[in-house]
Formats: sequence, C-alpha cells, structure tokens
Amino acid sequence: MQNPILSLIRKVTRKDFFSLFGFVFKMLSPSFVKKFLIFLLKDRVFESYENTDQSLRVDVFGSSFNNPIGLAAGFDDEVEVVDELCHMGLGFGELGTFTLRGSEENFQSTKFFRKQSAIFYRNNGYHNLTCKQASPKLALRRGKKNLVGVSLGEDQHSKDPVEDIVKCIPSVAPYADYLVVNLSCPDYLGAKILQNELKLHDLVKRAKEVIKIAVPLKPCPLLVKVPYDIPVDAKRVLVERCLSCGIDGLVVSGPLLKVPEGVILREADYGGFFAGQPVGEDVNNLIKEYYYLSNGRLPIIATGGVFSGKDAYKRIRAGASLVQVYSVLLYKGPEYIPTMIKELAECLKADGFNSIEDAIGADLKKA
Ligand SMILES: Cc1cc2nc3c(=O)[nH]c(=O)nc-3n(C[C@H](O)[C@H](O)[C@H](O)COP(=O)(O)O)c2cc1C
Repeated sequence: MQNPILSLIRKVTRKDFFSLFGFVFKMLSPSFVKKFLIFLLKDRVFESYENTDQSLRVDVFGSSFNNPIGLAAGFDDEVEVVDELCHMGLGFGELGTFTLRGSEENFQSTKFFRKQSAIFYRNNGYHNLTCKQASPKLALRRGKKNLVGVSLGEDQHSKDPVEDIVKCIPSVAPYADYLVVNLSCPDYLGAKILQNELKLHDLVKRAKEVIKIAVPLKPCPLLVKVPYDIPVDAKRVLVERCLSCGIDGLVVSGPLLKVPEGVILREADYGGFFAGQPVGEDVNNLIKEYYYLSNGRLPIIATGGVFSGKDAYKRIRAGASLVQVYSVLLYKGPEYIPTMIKELAECLKADGFNSIEDAIGADLKKA
C-alpha cells in the first residue's frame, strides 16, 4: 500500500520538492537530510529523467557513461538509491567506502554552513557497510545498466591497510564497473601508502591479481582517491608511481582541511573536513595539476564543489573525465540533477565542442 503522505507529496510536486520544502531541511543536519532524501528516493517521489544528448557520452575506464555527472562515495553507503539517482539522470554512482571489518565507533558529525553552501563533516571510521555486508546488496542489482564504482578503504584501526583492502576485493569486484582504493583520508594509515613506492606497487600488484581471479572476463579498473593536501613535488612523484605501477585513474580529491572564508569553527569541530561549494576552486586547480603532470594519461574523476552544470564543465575543462556530486544533492535536491546535465550540455555547445571528450583538459591545451 502507498504511503498517503508520500502520495500527497508526489501529487503536489514531482519537480519542485526542494524549492517548496527546502526551508525545512535548512534547519536540520546534513545526515538527517540525507536519510530523508534516501527515504524519498526509495519511494520514487521524484520525476525520472534520461539524458539523450549523445555529446555528453564519455567512454572511459572500459565503460560507456551516459553522461559524466555521477554520485560521490559516502552518499549511498548502504547500496539503496544509486539506481534511483541514475533514474533521475546521473551517469553513474560510487558506492561505499566499504571496509573489511566496519567501524565499531558509530560516530559521525555533519553540519551545514548555509551561507557558504558548505558541509562540515567528521568521521571516526567509515560509517558504512563492511564489504561482506555490501556484497549481497551489490549482487541484487546485477544486470542493471547503471554503472557503479565501488570504493574500498581500511578500518579505522587497521594495522595493514594493503592486506585489508586486498581481502575486500573478491566480495565486491564482480559487481563493480570500477574499483577505488580510498587513500584520501589524512588521519588514516592508508594515505601513507602513497608515500611508499614499494607499498603502492605491492597494493596494486596484489589488487590486480585478485581482481583477475574474481572477474577474469572483464577485470575492473583500479583507481585511487588521493588526499587534498600533497605538495607539488610529491604530486609529481605520485603520478609517476601511479603510472609505473598500473593504476588506471585518480579520484581528485579527498577531504579539504582548509576552512572556507567566513566559517568560524568551535574548538570541538577541529579535526573535520569541508565539502561543498567553497572547495570547488581548489579542486579545479588540483585537477589541472594532475592532468598536466600525467599528460592526460591518468583519467580523473573530479569530486568537490560541483553545484551546477557550469561547475561540472569547469572540472572537465581542467582535465576530469567524470565528475561527482554529493553536497549539492543536500542543498538543491535530486530534482536539480537534470538542470545540471542540461547546463553542462549548453556549456559544451557554447564553446563549440562536439563531445565531452573533446573538452577534457581544454584549459591546459589552450595554454
Ligand atoms: C558526510 C560525508 C561522508 C562522506 N563519506 C565518504 C566516504 O565514505 N568515502 C569517500 O571516498 N568519500 C566520502 N565523502 C566525500 C565525498 O565523496 C566527496 O568527495 C565530498 O563530499 C566532496 O564533494 P561535494 O563538494 O560535492 O560534497 C563523504 C562526504 C561527506 C560530506
């Protein structure tokens, strides 16, 4: 039986839900708003949308993406709504981050900084499923055409992140179009793998061997989500390492520690990260750096501060092949997805590009 309140919501609006009810959400915490959105998405309250503009199609990581705008990791941490969000227009979704043992400390704090369109978050361990718990949920969506990446990370108290991550792979790789090793969290041991050539080679070699055994017919590509805060010289070394050990791409970038202008933090809030509009400029510059350093040989998924089709287009011109969204869904609602996709197509046309692929890295090619 249909939930009468949801039926009413559906009748009142299928397009303008956020503009009508957004003022209520503004009083709540981001984690609550996310839970509520997931509840609505599961009930298909929102209108569906399918992009038919072929110029937005992107072929990368061995798959053909309907359009380059996808969901960032951490939003659909229980594999519940990725297909609903693709039904509303997203070109793909990243699930997880899943870990081997999960986090025993169930603590996550999130806060809106509305004037800045930012979200502040602090995690003690990933709040998400273990890879064993995620596996049957991923299996259930097998056969769906929507493309998904799966993000893997270490447990908060992991002593050997390489071992943990490699052990996670067999239970999720058969259901992933790409895998991401999340080494972006500066508090975790995993981030140190990037500074150690032998460890990174060991991780990639073992991960690729396990992927080949788990999915022999179409081994999924392996990407790394990199931290925000790496000095330029270290980035050059990192790119060389990634290329030499066979990493297939980068997710740029991990959490931003920089406090956005106008935000005043209480002492208790230190140790957290920012997402949302103010991180966009930094992420754009980072993408340019990685694109330049790798000479376009490491395809990039951009994450951070994408709040419009124009923002997505900027990331693509900076060198990203795909972009991800998170905060904008909490600020503008999932019904904003089609607007972003259409705006991206307009930007592309206005600059005379026939395809996204022609626009990737255009800012650097021009220089
Ligand atoms: C509450 C919260 C939880 C997140 N959890 C994860 C996670 O589990 N794994 C991950 O790789 N990124 C995680 N992220 C980072 C997002 O994937 C994304 O990189 C970040 O939100 C920046 O994008 P945005 O500005 O569009 O929000 C999380 C972000 C937030 C706000």
